[in-house]
Amino acid sequence: MRDVIIACDFKNREELFVFLKKFEGLNPFLKIGMEIFYKEGPQLVEELKRMGCRIFLDLKLHDIPNTVEKAMRNIAKLGVDITNVHAGGGIEMMKAARRGLDSVEEGKNTKLIAVTMLTSISQEALEKELKISMPLQEVVKTYANNAKEAGLDGVVCSALEAPIIKKMGLISVTPGIRFADDSVNDQKRVATPAYAKELGADYIVVGRSITAQDDPVAAYKRCLKEFC
Ligand code: C5P
Repeated sequence: MRDVIIACDFKNREELFVFLKKFEGLNPFLKIGMEIFYKEGPQLVEELKRMGCRIFLDLKLHDIPNTVEKAMRNIAKLGVDITNVHAGGGIEMMKAARRGLDSVEEGKNTKLIAVTMLTSISQEALEKELKISMPLQEVVKTYANNAKEAGLDGVVCSALEAPIIKKMGLISVTPGIRFADDSVNDQKRVATPAYAKELGADYIVVGRSITAQDDPVAAYKRCLKEFC
């Protein structure tokens, strides 16, 4: 069940479709995030689902439980494969998200996962900015436990944390993936696709290491080869 998810962080539909044209016949799993969703809206997701794409709708909901539940009811109608919330919203919020998804027929098969800690957050930022004095891995573990208690399917975390997540019986979806010869950009906790596999990640989310390459299809195939 291991798979590579391409983070489609594009400005708009046109850019996305120029990109997808190169992938004809490969049907990659796509992550639709805030940038393009806020531009194109749910119509884009409906269009991609009609085309048979598997979608991870990465909107990272984080609000009071009532608002999240109602927002999830609308997301549920899109019938996406995976969607998410921030674990930082607490157990009640995560339970409300699950309820929202389950209350709509098309949302019942949608996997709900929680972002533990953004992979762009370092231990230093955790301590100095967020005033959390625990080791990052402990925070991830606590948030993942909360997600499990709320009935979620898994978490978004760095590949480095995949082993503890696996032990908890949750699926791990791991961004912060770079090839050994790539630049790290703004990500802090990174792993190569091969290392993510070794650590037991279920899905890797790869953005710029595919989308910003001269030959994105070759980079995607390299990910599949290393990870799947
Ligand atoms: O380009 P890059 O591979 O760094 O893209 C990673 C993608 O994963 C981005 O779309 C980002 O929003 C997302 N993400 C992340 N860290 C998380 C959750 C999602 O980088 N904890």
